[in-house]
Formats: sequence, C-alpha cells, structure tokens
Amino acid sequence: MTPATDISLKELNTFGIDVKAKRFIVTTQTEQLLNLLKQYRDDTLFFLGGGSNMLLTKDIEALVIQLAIKGKKILREDDDFAWVEAQVGENWHEFVLWTLKHNLGGLENLSLIPGQVGTTPIQNIGAYGVEIKDQMVECVALRIKDLELVTFSNEQCAFDYRESVFKNALKDQYIVLSVVFKLTKRNHKLHIGYGAIQSELQQNNIIEPTIHDVSKAVIAIRESKLPNPKEIGNSGSFFKNPVISTQQFHELQREYPEIPHYTVNEELTKIPAGWLIEQTGFKGKRFGDAGVHSKQALVLVNYGNATGAEIAQLAATIQEAVLQKFHIEISAEVNIF
Ligand code: EPU
Repeated sequence: MTPATDISLKELNTFGIDVKAKRFIVTTQTEQLLNLLKQYRDDTLFFLGGGSNMLLTKDIEALVIQLAIKGKKILREDDDFAWVEAQVGENWHEFVLWTLKHNLGGLENLSLIPGQVGTTPIQNIGAYGVEIKDQMVECVALRIKDLELVTFSNEQCAFDYRESVFKNALKDQYIVLSVVFKLTKRNHKLHIGYGAIQSELQQNNIIEPTIHDVSKAVIAIRESKLPNPKEIGNSGSFFKNPVISTQQFHELQREYPEIPHYTVNEELTKIPAGWLIEQTGFKGKRFGDAGVHSKQALVLVNYGNATGAEIAQLAATIQEAVLQKFHIEISAEVNIF
C-alpha cells in the first residue's frame, strides 16, 4: 500500500480545519495496520480516529494513518448481562444505537457523542452522569514499539475525569484497537438524576423511562445545546471543567451566589467552565470564522474557514479572561496539534 500525498483533512476532523497530511493512508484491517507499522517503523506517524477531539493548527508532516477498522459483536451473555466488543473504527453513536437495538443498557446517556469507539477510553468520554469507565471491562491496545497486543483492564486504564493512562503515563505509546463493555439485559440502572434529563422526560410525560427513552432525551438535549459538527465545525467541550478548592469556591459563591458547582469531595469543587466563560462575556461572540457557541460557551466553533491557529488564539484569550476574572485556570480538553 502506498500512501496518498498532500491530502486535506478538512472532512476528517469535526472542527473542519483545512490542513493537509503530507502522507495519508486508511487502514481497515488489523493485519494491514500491523504491516504498515512494520513498513513505516522509522517514520513519524500520526494516528487519526474520528477526528472529534482535536484541533489541527498546522499541516501534519507525518504519515497520517486513519484507523477505520470496523466490527461489533456480542461476545457472550448470561441472564443479566451481555459483554459486547467494538473495534476502534466503529462510529460511537451508531454503536450506542446498536446496543439499544439489542435492548442492552448502560451506554444510553452517552448517545450522540461524536467520534469513534477507539478513542472513548483515551479520554474517558462522559455525559449526563455516566462515563465510559462505568461500563468498560477492558480494551485491547497495540504497543507501537514492538507491535504487542496488550489487554488493559478497567483499572489499568487509570480512568479519571476525561483522563486515562493513555493520555498520561503511556501517552503516544499505544493504539486502542477494541473495547469491551458489560451491559445490562434487564434491571437496567438508569441515570436520570441530571436536571436536563428529568425535565426532558417530564415534558414528554414519561414516568417510567426505558433505556430508549433516556437515549432519546439525551439526544434531544444535546441537539438543543450543542452544534452539529456536520453543520458547524466544533469539538464538543473545548475545555475541561476546572476543579478548585472548596475554600476558593465559597469565596466565589459570596460574590456570585448563583454559581453552579458539583462537589468532588470536602476539599474540592468542580465549576462548569461554560458558566465561567459566559461570565466573561464571550458566549456567542464571533471573531472572523472562529467563535464561541451561542447556547453553550464551553464549545468553540468554526463557522467555515477559521484556521486552527485562530481557534487556538481564541481559546488562549478566553483562558486569560477567565484567569483574570476568577483566578481559575481552565485547560483544554481537546488535543491541540
Ligand atoms: N452553563 C452556563 N453557561 C454556558 C454553559 C453552561 O452558565 O454557556 C452552566 C449551565 O447552566 C449549568 C452548568 O454550566 O448550570 C453545566 O452545563 P452543562 O449541563 O451544559 O454541562 P457542562 O458541565 O458544561 C459537561 C461535559 C459535556 C457533557 C455535559 C453533560 C465537560 C467538559 N463537558 O458539560 O461533555 O455533555 O456535561 O453531562 O465535562 C464534551 O465533553 O464534549 C461534552 C459535550
């Protein structure tokens, strides 16, 4: 297989940034990926999944390998649970819908999250009170240096809020190839405590929700707040919600009694970055084609032809404004290249 040259990545990153890959190749089979890694072992490589959690600020000089290996199946089941496996290149939302079609519960709150299955453990995707770590049993990852397949248990992934071992101690060393989830066949444990889900269910007069109702509610909420990357380029939440000392939170609360917050533990409190950004006046602002979404200030958007550098500049300006006003550092959730 010979890589193509000078390929635009605009359609392959949800921010819709028009940068080029110097060399580019798609891989649809594990065997093929292994051969590529042997063939190009001395080259600089760049692995591309769904392109939904990255901001590309310049052309990629490396060999870009798009991971498009597909496949999903039920591995085994008992009366209560099913163990399902999906390959790196499966679209996440389609996979969630497939589990729901099989009446399997556990991933419904994670409906409509953009991206591919293989990247979900890397940043421990989460929404509406559920994170991937709650349902993931293990994942198989390829160690790039010696092409060994290594199985990581849930614990070995060292999950935290939007964090895992793959973003930290083992950064850039592995490619996640497949993920196994343990899902419920009955006695589903619904997570509907989140305010927005409750009001969405209430509005539709749903008193005893099913996993399907929860998925529909989540889809409706996400569609109402978050821009569809097919229409406006974006990468979901650009920043992580910062965790501050509860003491600092109490000081802020005196000044801003309405400040939303989540208790992490006695000492630590998480503050929604979207609220902080809105307070600095950036919500809905547009600078050329780079902007801050009008319905969720945590989401930066590309209205068409923004460059990655322009989005990165806007992000830095917002970080500085939040730091000045609140003495809180907010850090990017999105990977910037
Ligand atoms: N808020 C504002 N202004 C805004 C946005 C939010 O005041 O512009 C306030 C809201 O009123 C609410 C609070 O901030 O009181 C939280 O807002 P929201 O429920 O929208 O959630 P979030 O904390 O901003 C996180 C995740 C989202 C996930 C939602 C729902 C992070 C970085 N983001 O956002 O994840 O969908 O919770 O669980 O944790 C993503 O990671 O790409 C993503 C979209």
